[in-house]
Amino acid sequence: MTGWLEGYVALVTGGGSGIGAAVAERFVAEGASVAVMGRDRDKLDAVVKSSSDPDRMLAVAGDVRSADDLAGAVTATLERFGKLDTLVPNAGMWDFQRQLTKLTADELSNSVDEVFAVNVKGYALAAHAAWPELVKTRGSIVMTLSNASFYVNGGGPVYTASKHACLGLMRELAYELAPKVRVNGVACGAMNTDLRGPASLDLVDRSIATSFAKRDANTPPPPIPLHDSSTDPRDFTGPYVLLASREQSGPITGHAISVDGGMGVRGFRSDAGGDHL
Ligand SMILES: NC(=O)c1ccc[n+]([C@@H]2O[C@H](COP(=O)([O-])OP(=O)(O)OC[C@H]3O[C@@H](n4cnc5c(N)ncnc54)[C@H](O)[C@@H]3O)[C@@H](O)[C@H]2O)c1
Repeated sequence: MTGWLEGYVALVTGGGSGIGAAVAERFVAEGASVAVMGRDRDKLDAVVKSSSDPDRMLAVAGDVRSADDLAGAVTATLERFGKLDTLVPNAGMWDFQRQLTKLTADELSNSVDEVFAVNVKGYALAAHAAWPELVKTRGSIVMTLSNASFYVNGGGPVYTASKHACLGLMRELAYELAPKVRVNGVACGAMNTDLRGPASLDLVDRSIATSFAKRDANTPPPPIPLHDSSTDPRDFTGPYVLLASREQSGPITGHAISVDGGMGVRGFRSDAGGDHL
């Protein structure tokens, strides 16, 4: 699919790396202009510089926990590109599957505050900053959700609760912003990105990429029906394009597309029923 977003303008939070950067570049390839917002100016500049068309990308430094920073990102997008068609709330952090029973009460309390401030408040504030412009363009919101929005053990209780909350936010906003603005999500499975953890669990310097780096030929396939499903974030971007496009998904709102190798159809006796085929 090329040209599905010709003339569109998008804003992607957490666009300095991982799936955010991949979505931004894919949107540019589909004809859109894209503002990438994130905390790390250098990472954002690198994404713009490496783009196939840097003139259709804009880096905006800011923190998604700040309503002012998000309002500034929307303003910068309008000043540079004139409108806003698509918001992609995406900036997030992971809890590295820390279980409740392994956390002290202080760690639990502080990590709930820290993770929810980015993963949930950051999405709500982004939607709040963008909705008036999205009403004008009859635009849409496409949230990065997760397998952890539906299933257990993709995180610990803190991450899983935060991603379930994002699913609820997506569905509530799909109701509240209809009929002018559609709100959908892409529930990503495991991706090899730079996803980090909260300072309150001393996980700021740990990246999910280190878990992928440990995999070798002896590592059993992931317990999903599509065993050899890609973990390259670029392979997860198609549904974002589909859901952003008015022409391709105009009647879709309040829906999450899962891109997780088939977790929802995992079997009891074996993960995939067709291994013998
Ligand atoms: N990697 C996975 O396996 C996976 C699976 C499902 C869902 N997700 C979700 O994908 C989204 C993107 O994560 P990723 O895997 O691409 O990791 P990533 O770390 O590469 O991307 C997240 C980006 O958000 C930015 N960010 C973090 N806190 C921020 C803040 N307060 N303000 C502004 N920017 C901030 C980071 O700097 C980073 O660039 C997250 O919401 C994550 O929960 C990831």
